[in-house]
Amino acid sequence: MSRTVYVNGRYLPEEEATVSVFDRGFLFADGVYEVTSVLDGKLIDFPGHCARLNRSLTELDMANPISDDDLLEVHRNLVRRNGITDGLVYLQVTRGAADRDFAYPDDPEPTIVLFTQAKPGLADNPAADRGLRIVTVPDQRWGRRDIKTVQLLYPSMAKMAAKAEGADDAWMVEDDHVTEGTSNNAYIVKGGTIVTRQLGHEILHGITRAAVLRFAREAQMKVEERAFTVEEAKAADEAFVTSASAFVMPVVGIDGVTLGDGTPGPVARRLREIYLEESRKAAL
Ligand code: PDD
Repeated sequence: MSRTVYVNGRYLPEEEATVSVFDRGFLFADGVYEVTSVLDGKLIDFPGHCARLNRSLTELDMANPISDDDLLEVHRNLVRRNGITDGLVYLQVTRGAADRDFAYPDDPEPTIVLFTQAKPGLADNPAADRGLRIVTVPDQRWGRRDIKTVQLLYPSMAKMAAKAEGADDAWMVEDDHVTEGTSNNAYIVKGGTIVTRQLGHEILHGITRAAVLRFAREAQMKVEERAFTVEEAKAADEAFVTSASAFVMPVVGIDGVTLGDGTPGPVARRLREIYLEESRKAAL
């Protein structure tokens, strides 16, 4: 079935939704994106995704083609038109089309594209009961991972390397410390304390991360925002990842080492429950 896609102010059937071959998103990965989940037809953590989009654009001196209110409206229209109950809304903004040149064009007209992906049962992913097995790989991305750019080739390669080893995903490692997952933030739990890397240029400032840490602190759980080593992770009681598409997802194995009894740990399970409950309540 053909989806409706939003391109530069127009709602089009996906077959007719196109952008220029000169678009700098295509030629230079000169673009940023957001992924917002939809549960029961409503948007999860929308204000956070909107705020991060504005930040990414500002960091790249890129114009924002749309107001926050209009962006919410477009998200809602696409969810409705495409009959999405559970799924994702993908948004991408690029600097726009211009003759190929490393220097930015003087007056670029940004390109904006949004589409939906239906994911029935997104919150009931069986992987949450089983837990993920992950492998570690060197983090070979650029130095501004806090900007949510569409330069996703290395994370994609890392994901394929994980699959080739029979694992579900990869955690990236720099100077022996875990930065984050290919498309999620990484956490370990030891002696009841949740440890996750502090914010900086080394990781994406996850919107789910912010909400989950807030809920953890509200539930009197101890949180430490600091880098942790691979050794520390392998010796942890449990581990998990967070993202807009996976919410809170337990990790049960790292580089072939089984954590705890090899089933999702109590902290990850509890946080998943709290996150889903609270974010559904606040959904727009
Ligand atoms: N990825 N770190 C990286 C490298 C990510 O790509 C993502 C999200 C996250 C989690 O951020 P958030 O909680 O705001 O989704 C962390 C999205 C889901 C994606 O690329 O599909």
